[in-house]
Amino acid sequence: MTNDDGKVRKIRPRNPGFAGITGEFDLTEAQIRGTDYVGARPLDGGHPSVAGTMPYQLTTRAPDLPLFEGEYLRRLEKVLSRYEDRRAALLPALHIVHEIRGYLPPEAMDEVAERLLLAPAYVRGVATFYTMYNLQPLGRFLIQVCTNISCNLCGADEVLREFLEQTGTEIGEISENGLWTVLEVECLGACGFPTAVQINERFFESVKAEDVPAILKRLEAEVPA
Ligand code: FES
Repeated sequence: MTNDDGKVRKIRPRNPGFAGITGEFDLTEAQIRGTDYVGARPLDGGHPSVAGTMPYQLTTRAPDLPLFEGEYLRRLEKVLSRYEDRRAALLPALHIVHEIRGYLPPEAMDEVAERLLLAPAYVRGVATFYTMYNLQPLGRFLIQVCTNISCNLCGADEVLREFLEQTGTEIGEISENGLWTVLEVECLGACGFPTAVQINERFFESVKAEDVPAILKRLEAEVPA
């Protein structure tokens, strides 16, 4: 390929290559796999991915807060203004409930139905279709451990076991102190950094079983006294 002045232009590929092909790029294995810059992640959490734009749930949930008043009413109105048909706002409206309550109680689904002029059964049908809506109460921190293939090959079972043991729960239970619920989930979309764990709206990557106590301790420290 030539420039306007007729000189041959060297094309430097911008993609730094993929795993296994270091060739002309002279990259280290750690740079290719990204492991050289994720070392501090397990304890800090971060990389919220879509969770940042679609709040999953608040750590400070308000079980008695009116659902669509004040700030939350303004948010619902903003959501509604984006759609010609109110029904199209159902998923984001349910997300607002989810964010406040941490799950979708039946009466909250009914309130959404009323606001969006939908049949309650329609709202229930949608809410129960998607696995990311919780239909029962959870601990303050919902710990979702990916045990899909990449994570599984890198010790996800031990990570899951450690979370269950440290929180004293079985899968889906709320711990006695109300802080923890641990779930086993399918791929969290962070397969390059196994084991991936999502805790509320935060991602923890490259988690090993021995990281679990420190992660829990750090989260516990965030709970207001
Ligand atoms: S397999 Fe665990 S994040 Fe994809």
